[in-house]
Amino acid sequence: MKALHEREDQGEHDLYYFDESGFSQASSVPYAWSPNGVPDAAKSAMDVRETFARMGMSDRETVALTVGGHTFGKVHGNGPADAVGGAPEEANIHEQGVGWANKHETGLGEYTITSGLEGVWTPTPTKWDNTYLETIFSHEWKVKKSPAGANQWEPVEVKDGFWVPDAHVEGRKNPPVMNAADMAMIVDPDYLKISKEYRDNPDVLADEFARAWYKLLHRDMGPSARYLGPQVPNEVLVWQDPVPKHEGPLVSDEQIATLKQAIADPELTAKQLVETAWASACTYRQTDHRGGANGARIRLEPQTANRLGYQRARRRGGCDRPVGEDKGASEANISLADVIVLGGGVGVEMAAKAAGHELTVPFTPGRTDTS
Ligand code: HEM
Repeated sequence: MKALHEREDQGEHDLYYFDESGFSQASSVPYAWSPNGVPDAAKSAMDVRETFARMGMSDRETVALTVGGHTFGKVHGNGPADAVGGAPEEANIHEQGVGWANKHETGLGEYTITSGLEGVWTPTPTKWDNTYLETIFSHEWKVKKSPAGANQWEPVEVKDGFWVPDAHVEGRKNPPVMNAADMAMIVDPDYLKISKEYRDNPDVLADEFARAWYKLLHRDMGPSARYLGPQVPNEVLVWQDPVPKHEGPLVSDEQIATLKQAIADPELTAKQLVETAWASACTYRQTDHRGGANGARIRLEPQTANRLGYQRARRRGGCDRPVGEDKGASEANISLADVIVLGGGVGVEMAAKAAGHELTVPFTPGRTDTS
């Protein structure tokens, strides 16, 4: 957020690129892809860092992804920005299914305009290699305007071996180009250190890109148990929120009975117990299948910061491991996750009893506590 505030202080926010009238206004504001249309790689680094952090990506993962991603492909902006029509969803009905309408020449191939930047990062844009970093480190860069008026970086002088074969015109060679986020990879001091390491160790880049790419595509799929197919890696990764397997014998019926007695300590009310179990179960998120009672994440960040969950449960006394320890129940091989669920059941039984009903809430042990 610091980045945003700083910019507001400088009064630059009126340069925002997208406005209510959409993409067709592009010609009135310079094509952007650098913060607020200003070609400033250091500010771009702030935006990139914040954006990737929101996706759970570290600096290393961010550099690996950007460097690795831009090893392939090109940016498209070979024509005037005002040749591009409005956003597809706002366009005329016959244009809505075909992306951004582009009136420049054929509107395709060498005339494609998408971001408004124009060019290619490396001399070998269809190959996985280390030429992105070789290119960026081998040149001095200056800001130039693309044909669409966007700010992009090109070498002051292209070194031998770095001319890029044109994607469409046989025999034509172009200088390599970088955008603001690319330049951020060598302007930001922390990104620079990582970029240099990857330049000198292509195998490290290949491995870290593969891992970060896999994470980018799978991060919201939930635990690896949900993955199907022969290509699922055996390795369990920390961002998959792994929960350890239960080890040793499960808690016996006798031990469960002792635990239940201990939990039903008069200092704990039915409300406390049920609320704690509810708060624990509430850590489950349907969209990406994270959290839930299994794992007892209620005691970990970020759930501990959630006033409605852990803190309330804790204040009311129901959420600590030593439930029943003084009554011998601590020898039972049971996780906190299980104790919380069992406690919820005890709470329901207590409430039912107070209302004149005897009931037993079924309990299946085997949950574990993650770290
Ligand atoms: C750091 C933030 C990033 C920014 C600001 C950025 C920006 C851009 C822009 C403006 C384009 C040009 C689109 C066009 O004109 O058609 C582009 C293309 C591309 N980006 Fe990124 N990008 C970023 C990160 C990534 C990442 C993480 C990947 C993949 C791991 C990636 C892969 C690509 C590829 C493959 C293309 C070329 C597409 C084509 O050939 O049509 N980029 N990027």
